Amino acid sequence: MNKFFLFLVSVMFLTLGNSNAAVYKGQKVFVKKCVECHESGQSFIATKKIREWKKFMKKRGEALAEIHLKDENAKKSWSYFESRKYTKDSRDLEQFLEEYAKDSGNVPACN
Ligand code: HEC
Repeated sequence: MNKFFLFLVSVMFLTLGNSNAAVYKGQKVFVKKCVECHESGQSFIATKKIREWKKFMKKRGEALAEIHLKDENAKKSWSYFESRKYTKDSRDLEQFLEEYAKDSGNVPACN
């Protein structure tokens, strides 16, 4: 019984740790790849609700990539949105965006 409880607790910690790591990685991606054009990072993220970010990030961020690939003003981002790196990053990025969406109740630390 005790052992089982310990096991449960450690599984919980592992999962928590993992989701935080994804948010953290997503934040790094955002700062590196998005802030350049959407400077006001946090307030930009908070203009959308979780549901909206989910839609943008569906199928590994396909919709978000399309918005940018259609827009001449976003030309500088094309190589990133077309890259495999973006496909790989999209999961973490989604976690981060949803973590700080309008209706998430979270406010990111100022750093
Ligand atoms: C080279 C500049 C550039 C980069 C880099 C860039 N964007 Fe954009 N983004 C734009 C432009 C231009 C538009 C279209 C005009 C608009 O709606 O503001 C846009 C539109 C968007 C929209 C839709 C806006 C809306 O209100 O519907 C979202 C969401 C978005 N970008 C998120 C991101 C994310 C997340 C990243 C990082 C992975 C990113 N952008 C990187 C230039 C950029």
